[in-house]
Amino acid sequence: MDFKKEIDINDLPKHIAVIMDGNGRWAKKHGKMRIFGHQNGVKSVRETSEAAAEIGIKYLTLYAFSTENWNRPKKEVDALMTLLVHTIESEIKTLNKNNIRLEAIGDLENLPKKSYSKLIEAIESTKNNDRMTLILALSYSSRWEIVNAVKKIAEKISKNEISSDMIDQKLFSSFLTTSKYPDPELLIRTSGEFRVSNFLLWQIAYAELYFTQKLWPDFRKDDLYEAILNYQKRERRFGMISEQINIQK
Ligand code: IPE
Ligand code: IPE
Ligand code: MG
Repeated sequence: MDFKKEIDINDLPKHIAVIMDGNGRWAKKHGKMRIFGHQNGVKSVRETSEAAAEIGIKYLTLYAFSTENWNRPKKEVDALMTLLVHTIESEIKTLNKNNIRLEAIGDLENLPKKSYSKLIEAIESTKNNDRMTLILALSYSSRWEIVNAVKKIAEKISKNEISSDMIDQKLFSSFLTTSKYPDPELLIRTSGEFRVSNFLLWQIAYAELYFTQKLWPDFRKDDLYEAILNYQKRERRFGMISEQINIQK
């Protein structure tokens, strides 16, 4: 089925977030080391970014490395960081060609120097692109982000820059790493795991969740389009009842 053709481009999510999972199992299935799965996941990153940009998605956030992933065997962490440097290096040109801006969220300063500087270089080099923003979540976890936001707000209060009665959802959101982006309407997780693994907990309050059995290295353009189509068939009620939603339409 041609999922792309079926999509209503007037009802697209502005922001899609993806938990790219299953690289290790994909490698195992092919009788290879885990890193082989990560290497093959790069193609899916490229395909998904292009597919999203092609159809008119404005923000795509990819969960590439979590705070908890630092606890993996050093060999795997090192290999992932090296892969990150190489991927960024080789993709800058394509990002610019496709008019995609690269940004990143997470505890970036915790990345190895080389990965950090390559990342900053790519962000700088793509900053004027405006077709889509591709946001990499690196050394990211939602609880880290939320605690960080609380700390920053507490500091402002102690300096009398804001008062506690000014704190509301909007102000709180402005202290998150995602302050510039709308909340994702659609969250996709590959590999058949039904959990969110500390990803965008605040931001996905009302996101539609989509789980697929596909392992990340097998994820292709059509898989993204299938997820969008599935999203479009859902009724988003935001606490209201169906009749109210239909009157609004
Ligand atoms: C996702 O694939 C990539 C990262 C978390 C970096 P995994 O490496 O988690 O693969 P599985 O879940 O072990 O198959
Ligand atoms: C979540 O995948 C993190 C990323 C995709 C970067 P994990 O594979 O680390 O998640 P858990 O540990 O299975 O929940
Ligand atoms: Mg995993």
